[in-house]
Amino acid sequence: MKRTFKPVSVLVMLALTAIAVGAGLWWHQRSADADNPYAHLGGDFTLTSANGPVSLSDFQGQVVMLYFGFTSCPDVCPTDLARMSAVMSGLTTAEAVQVAGVFVTVDPERDTPERASEYARFFSPSIIGLSGTPQEIEAVARQYYVIYNRIEDAESAMGYTIDHTATTYLIDARGVIRNRLQHDASVDEVRRAVRNLIPG
Ligand code: NI
Repeated sequence: MKRTFKPVSVLVMLALTAIAVGAGLWWHQRSADADNPYAHLGGDFTLTSANGPVSLSDFQGQVVMLYFGFTSCPDVCPTDLARMSAVMSGLTTAEAVQVAGVFVTVDPERDTPERASEYARFFSPSIIGLSGTPQEIEAVARQYYVIYNRIEDAESAMGYTIDHTATTYLIDARGVIRNRLQHDASVDEVRRAVRNLIPG
């Protein structure tokens, strides 16, 4: 009788081993993610620049400063993009080639890819401006937990304005979000955070 049990117990052992290995991998993955509070956010996307499609993964190997806004924004976006430009110009040449800026419009109705790109380039030639269809923009904003609301303003010549999250995401050379900086962060603070992510 004992012999008939043997194959069964081997199977049980194999099953238990598989479970243990699986749990170990899961735990390992979980603790790696636990080090990075932003691991559940972000990811790759493809939108359109004046020169055609651009994906976040095109910047693999570079640190990316990613910002969402719109070109008719009266002050918040210009301030944050000017800061992005100042961060860039304070880097050494060797550092600068490892850093890119990406501006994504949350106003795709007015901001064509041409307009978004031209706007970004006005601040720095190292900032790429992107747009897309309203659905594409919505999907990327959801991926990055960016909130934007259209506010009708009949009084204004623009017709409407957009309230939006003013967060600069820092994405490492592997495409993973590693830091989020708010509107009140200084140029030095952002540059220090960027430098921390440049592969040594
Ligand atoms: Ni803005």
